[in-house]
Amino acid sequence: MWAVCSRVMVKVGLAKPHGLVNPCHLVKPVSATRVTGRYLTHQSGLPCLPVPPLQQTCDRYITALEPIMEVDELKHTRELMEEFQKPGGVGERLQKGLEKRASNTKNWLSEWWVQVAYLDYRMPVVIHSSPGLVLPRMDYSDKQGQIRFAAKLIAGVLDFKTMIDNETLPVEYLGGKPLCMNQYYEVLSSCRIPGLKRDTVVNHAKSSPPPKHITVVHNFQFIVGEDGMCGANYEHAPAEGPPIVALIDHVVEYTRKPETAQSPKVPLPMPQKLHFNITPEIKKDIEEAKHSMNKLAQDLDMRVMVFSHFGKNLPKAHKISPDAFIQMALQLAYYRMYQRCCSTYESASLRMFRLGRTDTIRSASSASAAFVKAFDDHSRQNTEKVDLMGKAIKAHKSYTNMAISGQAIDRHLLGLKMQAVEDKISVPDIFKDSAYNKALHYHLSTSQVPSKTDCVMCFGPVVPNGYGVCYNPMNDHINFAVSSFNGCKETNGALLAQALEDALLDMRTLLEQTPRAKL
Ligand code: COA
Repeated sequence: MWAVCSRVMVKVGLAKPHGLVNPCHLVKPVSATRVTGRYLTHQSGLPCLPVPPLQQTCDRYITALEPIMEVDELKHTRELMEEFQKPGGVGERLQKGLEKRASNTKNWLSEWWVQVAYLDYRMPVVIHSSPGLVLPRMDYSDKQGQIRFAAKLIAGVLDFKTMIDNETLPVEYLGGKPLCMNQYYEVLSSCRIPGLKRDTVVNHAKSSPPPKHITVVHNFQFIVGEDGMCGANYEHAPAEGPPIVALIDHVVEYTRKPETAQSPKVPLPMPQKLHFNITPEIKKDIEEAKHSMNKLAQDLDMRVMVFSHFGKNLPKAHKISPDAFIQMALQLAYYRMYQRCCSTYESASLRMFRLGRTDTIRSASSASAAFVKAFDDHSRQNTEKVDLMGKAIKAHKSYTNMAISGQAIDRHLLGLKMQAVEDKISVPDIFKDSAYNKALHYHLSTSQVPSKTDCVMCFGPVVPNGYGVCYNPMNDHINFAVSSFNGCKETNGALLAQALEDALLDMRTLLEQTPRAKL
C-alpha cells in the first residue's frame, strides 16, 4: 500500500539498531524540566486489569451471540456454556488460575495479548496487522518542499521523543481517570525482529541493541510525497492508534510552527551517503519481497472517504454519543447490503489499567438488530424507529462502558483459553464450538481513532470476506477509511462506503423529523 516509488521513505530509527548511525547527537539534551521517575510513579498508581466474574462473561457471551446466530445453533452453545461453568467444572478451575495470574502480574493479559494478537500471527504484517495513516495534504508541491518537510518532520518526532525521555509527556485522561502511558514508552524504543520461531519485540530503552545481522522492523515509517501527500505506517505490536495519532498531531503541529533560524552550537558533520552492499542473494530477496508486497497491495481496496455532511457535533447536539451513532450507521449499512447482522469488532481502550491495551466492543447487539431490521420497514412508524435507534445506541454505549472498565467478554474468554493451554489441559469445548469461530469471524472490524490533525488511520480487513473500517470524527465532518479485498466477490468497499454515507444521512433525517425521548 505504501510502496510507492516516488515517495521518500523516512525511517525513524531511534533505537540504535545494528550499526545504523546513532542519532544521539540530533536529540536535544534532556531539559531542566525532567521529572525523574514521574512515569513509573504514574504507572504504579494505576489499577490492575480485573478478571471479570465467570458467570457474567458466560451470560454476556450468549447475549452477544444472539444477533449473529440461529436459535438452534445457540441452543447447543448454551448447553456447552452450562457445562463449562458448572460448580467444580473446568471453567471454575481456569478462572481460579486466571485470578492467581492476575495477583502475580502487573497485567494478566498484556503479555499473552502481544504474543497471540501480534507475534504468533503468521500473516504478513503489511495490511493484515500494521495500520497506515493518511495525513492532510501538506502545503508544498516540489522536491525542495518535500525535503524541507521531511527534515521538519524528523525534528518533530525527535521533539516528541525528548518529551518521552524527559518524562514530560502530559498524562492522558479518560472520564477523569488517568490512562496508562506505557505505549508511548514502547513505540519509539522498540523494534520487532522477525524470522525467529516467535518474533520478538526488543525494547531498547530497557535492553541492549539487537545482535547484528538480524533484520529489524522499525516501528515507524513516514512517507513524504513530492506532491504534499504524506502518510505513515507503523508496526502494531507496541501500540494502538491513539498514541500514534498523538505523536502525529504533535509532529504536524511542529512542522507548522514558523521556523526560527538557529545555527547549531557545535558544527554538524556533513551528511554522508550510506552505501549498501547488495549481494545478488539480497537483491533476489528484495525482488521477491517487492513482488509479494505488490500482490498484497493489488488485492487491497482502500477507500478513504470524507463524509462532509456533518461531524460529531450533530449527534452531540442530539445528546447522542457520536461513536455509538457511527457504529449504528455501520450496522445499518451492513444490514442493507447483506440482509443480516454480522459479528462486529470495535476496539475499546483498556488504558485505564496498568499496561492495558484493548478489548472488544461487540457492536452488533439484539437492540441494534431490532433497529436495523425496522429501519426500512414501511409498516413501522418513525416514532417506533427512533425509539429503536435510541435503544440500540444505549446498548452500544453500555457495552462501551463495560469494555473500558475491563468487564467485556473477549479478552476474558481468551484468557480462560490461554490458561487451559498454560495448565496443559485440553481446550474446553466452548472454544471448539462453531459459535466461537463465528463470533471471532469479524466481517466488520472497526475502530475510532480521533485526532486533532485532519487525518485518518487505515487498516485491512481481518477476515478474507470482511471489511476494515477506521474513522476519525471531526467536529463538522468524519474521515473514514474502508478496506476490503479485491479478490473477494462477497465484499465491495465502494458499496459499503456509499451505504455508510446513506445510513448516516438517513439516521440524521429520522432524528430531525421525529421527536423522541431523551437517550
Ligand atoms: N451527548 C452529548 N455529547 C456526548 C454524548 C452524549 N450523549 N456522548 C458522548 N458525547 C461527547 C463526548 O463527551 C466527547 O466529547 P469531546 O468531543 O468533547 O471529546 C465526544 O462526544 C465523543 O464521545 P463518543 O463518541 O461517545 O466516543 P468516546 O470519545 O467516548 O470514545 C471509544 C469511545 C470506544 C472509541 C473510546 O472509549 C476508546 O476506547 N477508544 C480507543 C480506541 C482504540 O484504541 N483504537 C485503536 C485501534 S488501533
